[in-house]
Amino acid sequence: MQLSNEPTSLETVEWEDGVVKMIDQTRLPQELVILDISDIPTLVAAIQRLSVRGAPAIGVAGAYGVALAVHLHGTDGPELEEAIGVLRAARPTAVNLAKMVDRTAALVSLGLERVLEEAHLIRDEELRASISMGEYGADLADELIGDAAARTMTICNTGGLATVARGTALAVIQTLHERGRLEMALPVETRPLLQGGRLTTWELSRMGAPFRLLVDGAGPFLLARGEANLVFAGADRVAANGDVANKIGTFSLALASRHAGVPFIVVAPESTIDMDTPSGSQIEIEDRGSDEVVSVRGVEVAPPGAEALNPAFDITPVEFITAIVTDRRIIRPDQGQSPHTVPLGELKQSHPGGT
Ligand code: MRU
Repeated sequence: MQLSNEPTSLETVEWEDGVVKMIDQTRLPQELVILDISDIPTLVAAIQRLSVRGAPAIGVAGAYGVALAVHLHGTDGPELEEAIGVLRAARPTAVNLAKMVDRTAALVSLGLERVLEEAHLIRDEELRASISMGEYGADLADELIGDAAARTMTICNTGGLATVARGTALAVIQTLHERGRLEMALPVETRPLLQGGRLTTWELSRMGAPFRLLVDGAGPFLLARGEANLVFAGADRVAANGDVANKIGTFSLALASRHAGVPFIVVAPESTIDMDTPSGSQIEIEDRGSDEVVSVRGVEVAPPGAEALNPAFDITPVEFITAIVTDRRIIRPDQGQSPHTVPLGELKQSHPGGT
């Protein structure tokens, strides 16, 4: 086991000799623990308990999961079908999981090597997408705030931990930092599982970016007070009309951004856009049950028997979104655009280090 502040070249999720390896994100930032997973029930449980999380990362985990299923069960039969079915259904909101399971499952009859090749391709696509989103998003920030220093609010964890490397919304913040444009990052802690407080702060520390952590409730007030001039959020699914499902609390930040006149920008790869879902009302929102709300990291904070409502995501209607930045285009709902109307452009790959 390594200490959490030691640099690591390990990717969020990867494949090694019939084993899916992943950083156990439930243990960060206290411990950097790598899980070795060699059966499907353990992989499904790891996705459900958020050891691996974030829409692109669970897409990659799902793709490697199909490879693991073929490795264990061969190229057809009920056990294989069952394994693929439970993987695909492990979490319902992020479209990447079902998409990448379907994409790799379509190749199982061609054998493990071909499935694995596709899973690696998906991983590499997500890596390139992160670099490109960072560039598109930082260019858009220049357009929106001119020469002003960027003071960026963000929610959940949308960094390398949520993708393969660099991330989505956090990739834009990282690119702004690398360009010398970032004055302050303001992540909200993101109750109940504290992806902002535990993971985004860990990633911002590692990149040497200036930040202050906020409780969720401080976000709207600090926006109204002018503390941020840009808000960046990720997405678990972007519907065809531009409505966005993302971590619970995103809609509050979008409303507050509108109130404060601050651009609200969603950053997500093309793989998160779901043209088969017409609008946000058709997106299934994961209900994660009471336990993780009525207790915090194993300590009960509500009276015994108290029940909570715990939707893991919310929907931000497209009318509250200034721009949707993907790896291939910038969609401007504030200018009447939607995913239907903006054609795909080029990937931007100018980040010198690659990751
Ligand atoms: O429940 P999580 O932690 O998987 O939720 C993740 C998010 O909501 C992210 O904002 C989203 O997946 C985009 S991450 C690149």
